[in-house]
Amino acid sequence: MLINTSDYEKKANCALPRFVFDYLRGGAEDEQTLRLNIQDLAKVRLMPNCLAGNAHIDLSVELFGERWSAPFAVAPIGLCGLVRPRGDAMLARAAARARIPHILSTASNTLIEDLHEADAPALQWLQLYVLSDRLFAERLLKRAKAARFGALVLTVDVPVSGARERDARNAFRLPFRVTPSLALDVLRRPGWLSRLARGGSPQFVNLVPEGKAGDAQAQAALLAREMDRTLDWSSLQWVRKHWDGPLLLKGILHPKDAQRALSQGVDAIVVSNHGGRQFDGAPSSISALPGVIDAVEGRKPVLVDGGFRRGTDVLKALALGAHGVLLGRAPVYGLAADGEQGVDAVLAMLRQELERAAALLGVTAMGDVGRNHLAPAEWLP
Ligand SMILES: Cc1cc2nc3c(=O)[nH]c(=O)nc-3n(C[C@H](O)[C@H](O)[C@H](O)COP(=O)(O)O)c2cc1C
Repeated sequence: MLINTSDYEKKANCALPRFVFDYLRGGAEDEQTLRLNIQDLAKVRLMPNCLAGNAHIDLSVELFGERWSAPFAVAPIGLCGLVRPRGDAMLARAAARARIPHILSTASNTLIEDLHEADAPALQWLQLYVLSDRLFAERLLKRAKAARFGALVLTVDVPVSGARERDARNAFRLPFRVTPSLALDVLRRPGWLSRLARGGSPQFVNLVPEGKAGDAQAQAALLAREMDRTLDWSSLQWVRKHWDGPLLLKGILHPKDAQRALSQGVDAIVVSNHGGRQFDGAPSSISALPGVIDAVEGRKPVLVDGGFRRGTDVLKALALGAHGVLLGRAPVYGLAADGEQGVDAVLAMLRQELERAAALLGVTAMGDVGRNHLAPAEWLP
């Protein structure tokens, strides 16, 4: 029975070859940060107000002049075409139906121009990795602008790729090479294999000029090896030259970095440790959130991601001062389990959980949730 996101995670595990599930589920090195994201969320306690008279609950929030139906968005997920062919488009359509933003990864397998089926372009955002040849980024930004994407999310926690040991153990790396154990793994999941055979193996189509899918291996190598290591605070001026819409920095944990981002004119911050996939040793996102919120002092919106699997988790982030949450793995578990319908189901489930949790907390609007709803830490046993 599929009644929560953990059930979808289990079904995803049964639907995907091991190497794909591990790619999705796994984190860096010993996966301490990955685990902390969930463990620390569980430690936050919410204090309900009774007799709140909340017959109608408004879950919506507004950002950059656009109303979202709920305070969550779909985070950027690279190589999502490995989970399902055209997985990016499925995530985008489900997000558009739910009227929440979807963030397309630089490492996506669907063309920027093919996402217009999500007919709310302002809720379609682009995530940017800057490769050492900055022309790639400049071209991407031009195309996202032409497609009327609503915001740019610059990911700042990948100067190098984190060490994903599950991938190493599974001999899964880019460029892709088929080993005997990988072939066996794939044969155990005929449904996945036949979809891949029909849909074709995923390519990093947005890394190719004019969007023509070329040599997938060359694209993968480009992405894996050639991040721009010179990227620093002064590079934001270059980004601004090529993108005049809302700009978010994703991957901030340090309050000083948040302050610096604001002084550089960034429009919002995403507190994130990349779902525990980059720096194993970094704090959980939820534990880093209060420091960033205090540093930002309400001047700009702060979003957060990492470990959000329940409606109550979302409320906890709002109580600590976040404007909203990005959902990473949760919708992709839905995608892996049941395709586009699975994404719809996970988003609807989280929405229902959030609505129930808001009623139990005793609030009628998301803006009402604040630190006064946190149970004091000193009350913990
Ligand atoms: C399989 C996978 C691929 C990801 N690819 C990207 C990416 O291309 N760009 C990016 O900024 N973040 C990427 N992330 C990080 C997510 O955007 C998000 O920060 C993270 O998944 C949140 O944690 P959660 O999965 O626990 O919700 C990826 C995460 C996963 C699980």
